[in-house]
Amino acid sequence: MILRPSSKTSRAALSRRAFAVRDEYTPCRNQTRYERDTKIPSEQPNPKRSPRLLLNPVLAELPAYPLVRMDERRRDLEERGAKLFDFGTGDPREPTDKKIRQALIDGVLEVSRYPSATGTKELREAFVNFMLRRHSVRLDPETEVLPAAGSKEAIFHAPLAFIHPVHERRGISYGTPGYPVYERGALFAGGEALPVKLRKEEGFLLPVRDIDPARTRAVWVNYPHNPTGATATLQYIEELANFCREHDILLFSDECYNDVYSGDPPPSVLEITKERTLAFVSLSKRSGMTGYRSAMMAGDPELIAALKKLRPSIGAASPGFVQQAATAAWTDDAHVNERNRTFAAKRALFESFLERAGFRYTSTNASLYLWVEVPKEYGGDDEAYAVRLLDERIIVAPGSSFGPGGEGYFRIALVPAIQECEEAIARWEGLTE
Ligand SMILES: Cc1ncc(COP(=O)(O)O)c(C=O)c1O
Repeated sequence: MILRPSSKTSRAALSRRAFAVRDEYTPCRNQTRYERDTKIPSEQPNPKRSPRLLLNPVLAELPAYPLVRMDERRRDLEERGAKLFDFGTGDPREPTDKKIRQALIDGVLEVSRYPSATGTKELREAFVNFMLRRHSVRLDPETEVLPAAGSKEAIFHAPLAFIHPVHERRGISYGTPGYPVYERGALFAGGEALPVKLRKEEGFLLPVRDIDPARTRAVWVNYPHNPTGATATLQYIEELANFCREHDILLFSDECYNDVYSGDPPPSVLEITKERTLAFVSLSKRSGMTGYRSAMMAGDPELIAALKKLRPSIGAASPGFVQQAATAAWTDDAHVNERNRTFAAKRALFESFLERAGFRYTSTNASLYLWVEVPKEYGGDDEAYAVRLLDERIIVAPGSSFGPGGEGYFRIALVPAIQECEEAIARWEGLTE
C-alpha cells in the first residue's frame, strides 16, 4: 500500500495509518508477485479471535467455478420437485458401452494395489493403436504417451512442469471464451494468464497474431471448441505450430471433443508435429466415461519425460480397473460411431429449431455444443436470458460464464436424451412465438 501525503492528511495521521496497516498486514522478506499485488493477512494470533485463515491468493481471489452457480439454482429447483431439461453441463446421459463397463468390473482385483503414474502397458498400447487408426500418428508407447485421471487434472497440472515462475516468459495464452481450467492452471503454477479474444468473424480460431512471444511460454488451443463448437483445419494448426516453433512456445492441444463429430473427422495437432507439442485426449465425451476419469497425454518425448517426473508427486493416476475399462474403450470405435449418430440427431433437431425461431448461432458438426446469440430484446444480457429459460425449466449455460467474449451468447449442451430434447424444444418454442 502506498501512502502519499495530501493537503487534508497530516504526517502524524499518515504514520498512524501506516502503523495500523503494518499491524494488520505483516510484510514478508522475500515477496512474491502475489504478495506484492495482494494484501497479506497477519499471522499474529489474536487472543480474542482465531487468526484470519491465510489462503493461497490465487485461491482467495478465484470466483466460484462458473457452472457451479447454475448447478446451485438447478438443485434448488430439483429440491422443489421440478422436472428440468438440463442443457447446462457437458455431461451426456447416453449409457456407457456394456463392454467398457464389463472391463471395469473385471478389473476389480481381490488385492488392491497402487496404480502407477505411467499406467499399464496395455492401456498405452491401446491408445497408441487408436492414434494410428484415427489420426495416422505413430507414437512410442514407452516414451510418447502418459495417462491421466481425466484431461481436466492433466490440463490443470501441466503448467507445474513447464512454467518457471520468475522467468519473463511465464505466460500461458488461451482463447476466451473458453474452458476455464487453462487460466487456473497457469495462475496456480505461478504463471501469467494471457487470454486471447476469439472472434465470431474469425471462426473463433485463436488469432496467432495476438500471441505475445515475449511473454508466452505455452499456448492452449481446443478444437472442436468448448463452448462455441468451432473446428480448426489442418492448415490453421500448421500455421499455429510454425509460429510456436519459431518462438519456442509449447503448443498444448486440448482434444477433448476430437471424436465427437459427424462429417469430416477433426484433426489432431500431432498430425502436424510432435516437437514441443502435447495433445490431451479424453475418453469422457468420446466414450461416455465422464465419471471414470481417464485421458491420455501424448507428443514430444522430452515433454512427456518432464510430466513423468512431475506426476508421481500428484497422485492422480487412475485406478487399475479404470485403466482396464479405458483400454477397452480405446480399442473400440463402434460405440463412438453410435454415440455420434445420436449427437448428430440432437444437433439437427436443435439447429432446425434455432432456424425456425430466428436465433443466430454457430453451425457446427462437432463437439457437444451449440453457441447461440441471446435474443435482441435481452440487450445481450446472457444471464437474464438463462434465468428466463430456467423459469421454463430449461437450463443453458450463459456465455459470460466462459470468460470475456462470451457475453451475449448462451451454450446449449446436447446432453439430454433425444425425447427430452424434443420436449424442451416444445416448451422453448412457446417462448419464442
Ligand atoms: C474443453 C474441455 N477440455 C477438457 C475437459 C475435461 O474433460 P475430462 O476431465 O472429463 O477429460 C472438458 C470438460 O468438459 C472440456 O470441455
